[in-house]
Amino acid sequence: MDRWQTIIEPFRIHSVEPIRMTTVAEREAALKTAGYNLFNVHAADVIIDLLTDSGTGAMSRDQWAAIQHGDESYAGSPSWYRFLEAVQNLFPFKHVIPTHQGRAAEKILFSVVGGPGKVVPNNAHFDTTRANVEYTGAEAVDLTPPQDPQAILPFKGDMDVAALERLIQERGVGSIPVVFMTVTNNSMGGQPVSMANLRAVRDVCNRHGLPLFLDACRFAENAWFIKERETGYADKKIPDIVREMASFADGMTMSAKKDGLANIGGWLAMNDDSLAERCRNMLILTEGFPTYGGLAGRDLEAIAQGLEEVVEEDYLRYRIQSTAYLGEALAASDVPVILPIGGHAVYIDARRLLSHITPLEYPGHSLAVELYHEGGIRGVEIGTVMFGRHPDGTETAASMDLVRLAVPRRTYTQSHIDYVIEVVQFVARRASALRGYRITHEPPALRHFTARFEPL
Ligand code: F0G
Repeated sequence: MDRWQTIIEPFRIHSVEPIRMTTVAEREAALKTAGYNLFNVHAADVIIDLLTDSGTGAMSRDQWAAIQHGDESYAGSPSWYRFLEAVQNLFPFKHVIPTHQGRAAEKILFSVVGGPGKVVPNNAHFDTTRANVEYTGAEAVDLTPPQDPQAILPFKGDMDVAALERLIQERGVGSIPVVFMTVTNNSMGGQPVSMANLRAVRDVCNRHGLPLFLDACRFAENAWFIKERETGYADKKIPDIVREMASFADGMTMSAKKDGLANIGGWLAMNDDSLAERCRNMLILTEGFPTYGGLAGRDLEAIAQGLEEVVEEDYLRYRIQSTAYLGEALAASDVPVILPIGGHAVYIDARRLLSHITPLEYPGHSLAVELYHEGGIRGVEIGTVMFGRHPDGTETAASMDLVRLAVPRRTYTQSHIDYVIEVVQFVARRASALRGYRITHEPPALRHFTARFEPL
């Protein structure tokens, strides 16, 4: 396929979902009703929904067929055994604990190993991971190496290994229940982690007797980047690369809503028997019996089938190239984006694009609203609205003001993406006409979900 420039979707469409086309006037009205918060907009009023890649992908013919094989036995369902085999084929951990989504796995793990005085290092915590660590009274520390956001480096998701060593020296081994590596690194722009970095972090953990866990939501995308970019992996099969990534870890948390290619689901896995027993006890309290967790048998089937499809090379080549297609087209027309383009999303640097709007007037929010207003495209602000308000009530600018355009898996075609490119280019050309926003109502925490805004 390398002879041709055009990337084609490696599937045909077998069932379609209509998109309702809306007008600018209709979207203007929808924005007013929503208090200019895109989380409050009805999804039926969105043309291209790039809010998240989580649970929004299209399932395959074979996944829908697998759903018909779902067995809803309370204990020991055949669907559970199919799920277990599919998970352990890629991640051969001794214990697998199914949950309804990734954060449920986080909640169980951290309520068992967290607590006041504990500290959890991660290359970069996703916000639910951080929240679940902090909810137990423990501290969540991001160990991202200092780097230029515009530097084109192959593995910008890596952990700063020297910083991990320093943290262990400063805080003591006893205060660190687990070291985490998020693959790919969502908070850093969907950037991959190299095998060399996983190996180096494992070495540090071995020297100090610390367990290493993966937050493996986008493991297949990470494996593809390793195959493409890391010396020695070009001829390796994706499942072998995934197993090698897993071989450095003692356990994992997973959201099957991403690289499980399912609409719901997740799991927690580990080798440690006594930790598994404590986690299963929590599972029974909050999720369900250990052979279904928070899921129906049919969900377990859809995930098992999804795990076979997500490591197919035709799929991954298309997945990574089609995200890059969006990002590179924007970069080529001078829209500032985080480079290189990550696996699941394109991140527009709204602070640079809208340099006339100060961070406390929310440039990321302004851009996200305008993309919806002009083209019905829904992205998400990752910036001062999301991170600017602190528990003591003060407000400061976040480190960056970005708009994330996350690409759902196997859902949109290249013409949908060409439309997105055209709308973003249009909005970017008239960036100087955009204005900031003022918050008229906000809740005490996680304000980005429910705050109401007014244009300045
Ligand atoms: N870890 C990472 C790296 C994630 O990106 C997410 C979810 C989770 C954990 C939690 O998983 O949603 O199944 O509970 N990320 C979504 C996003 C919501 O839009 O990036 P979950």
